[in-house]
Amino acid sequence: MSKLRLISLLHLSGLVILGYACQPDPRESELPPPTPGVVAGIDTLTGLVAQGDYLLVKGNCLACHSSKLIIQNRATRAGWLRMIRWMQDKHGLQDLGDREAPILDYLAEHYAAGSEAVRRQPLEVSWYELQE
Ligand code: HEC
Repeated sequence: MSKLRLISLLHLSGLVILGYACQPDPRESELPPPTPGVVAGIDTLTGLVAQGDYLLVKGNCLACHSSKLIIQNRATRAGWLRMIRWMQDKHGLQDLGDREAPILDYLAEHYAAGSEAVRRQPLEVSWYELQE
């Protein structure tokens, strides 16, 4: 066999191996897409606790940001109201009308101040004075 032939044969087998390695993993295409619904009490699309008036939160609170901003926060009813007023003042959140009360009830119950939060505790750092 000529040198050239051998080299092109090696190239060809390399391509065959590469082609095989680049095949999409058949198992991946078998995975179902995430289904909208409720699994273990959690709304699969948003991560919100799927109880009470969570659909009001889903419908009114997720146009501008991810549900993670809500889920990682904890506040009293008054604290949630302050956040809503702040978004209304600064970020164009609409008047929620008679949806406001049930939304606040839901948030104060499921994301209550003092309940376990995803957000980590503040670091305990002993700060020092900056010297000039
Ligand atoms: C019109 C847009 C808009 C809508 C609708 C909206 N928000 Fe917000 N929200 C914002 C913006 C802008 C921020 C600031 C985002 C940032 O800091 O990245 C924010 C921040 C937040 C935060 C974080 C506040 C903090 O102090 O860290 C929470 C919690 C929150 N929104 C909850 C809600 C809830 C609950 C609703 C539904 C009642 C809602 N948002 C609907 C615009 C909106």
